[in-house]
Amino acid sequence: MDPKELPPNVRDDKISEETKKLISSLPSHTDSQGQKLCKYQGCWYYYNTLQGVLNFQSGFQPQDTDIILASYPKSGTTWLKALTVALLGRSKNHSSSNDHPLLYDNPHGIVPFLEIDVYHESSSPNLDNFSATPRLFSTHMPLHAMQETLKQSPCKIVYVCRNLKDTLFSTWLFACAIFKIEPTRSILDSMFKSLCNGTIFYGPFWDHLLSYWRGSFKDPKHVLFMRYEEMKAEPHEQIKRHADFLGCPFTKQEEESGVVDKILDLCSLRNLSSLEVNKTGKVNNVDHKNFFRKGEVGDSKNYLTTEMENKIDMIIQEKLQSSGLNF
Ligand code: A3P
Repeated sequence: MDPKELPPNVRDDKISEETKKLISSLPSHTDSQGQKLCKYQGCWYYYNTLQGVLNFQSGFQPQDTDIILASYPKSGTTWLKALTVALLGRSKNHSSSNDHPLLYDNPHGIVPFLEIDVYHESSSPNLDNFSATPRLFSTHMPLHAMQETLKQSPCKIVYVCRNLKDTLFSTWLFACAIFKIEPTRSILDSMFKSLCNGTIFYGPFWDHLLSYWRGSFKDPKHVLFMRYEEMKAEPHEQIKRHADFLGCPFTKQEEESGVVDKILDLCSLRNLSSLEVNKTGKVNNVDHKNFFRKGEVGDSKNYLTTEMENKIDMIIQEKLQSSGLNF
């Protein structure tokens, strides 16, 4: 595949001389698709993504009202973005009308990633598009990668996590779709190995989860920990939790007039994936349609072998032991 067709953050063509020097001193690894990764501050990044992380760390100036949506890839990021846009958009009174931004752009176009989009090329990007408050950003960085930059900032972070088996399964199909390759068992096996030994993009998975899990206990006013499975099982309760945390709780009148249901419906996988913009558009060389698949809990069950499931259960048990977080 022509590297120019890859998502820019996966490549290694935007790194400065200084970053090259830094990379040469870091642990490195090549993934099953032949892309290079390195481990910086405990997290594995593709080289261009590392450049984005460094740009963010040196240049981002938080505003008190900023909101950052965080996740490990393939854990429900697109849904979280759509729900947050819809929640905040209520004040603009377009949650059900035809001018809603979600009808005309993919959630990833509306809420860009800090390290992948906004700070991808520069530590002082033009932020004119973020003149409205609150500014809404997203990230796949673990919390500890942002802590120094966000120090003393009261900005709010919403994290969504998903069970590791479905995350792995979703990652496999998504990666094969963007690399335009057949999703073979051997690719799944190789991703499984990387996931288990932690050497996967934004891994180790457990450190990612734990950084936000612990952060949400240490600072519950500023870090909210959500779970994909709970959002699916009890969407009304979870969206209210989300709205309360963001400081825009639903009023009784809104609840009675069905605003919660309208938002859930607007942001449903069924609705978003049926929109023209999500059937046809692209962001960062990724077809919008690839962000929407089945969105089911336990969908990995028929594809992962018993040994894979047992190993994942063992890892989760070992790594999350005594953290109070379980699956
Ligand atoms: P599956 O591959 O299991 O179907 P991310 O948004 O972090 O990339 O995660 C992608 C996963 O979220 C995919 O899971 C996708 O189908 C699911 N998803 C996307 N939009 C969703 C929505 N509006 N509601 C629920 N799940 C959604």
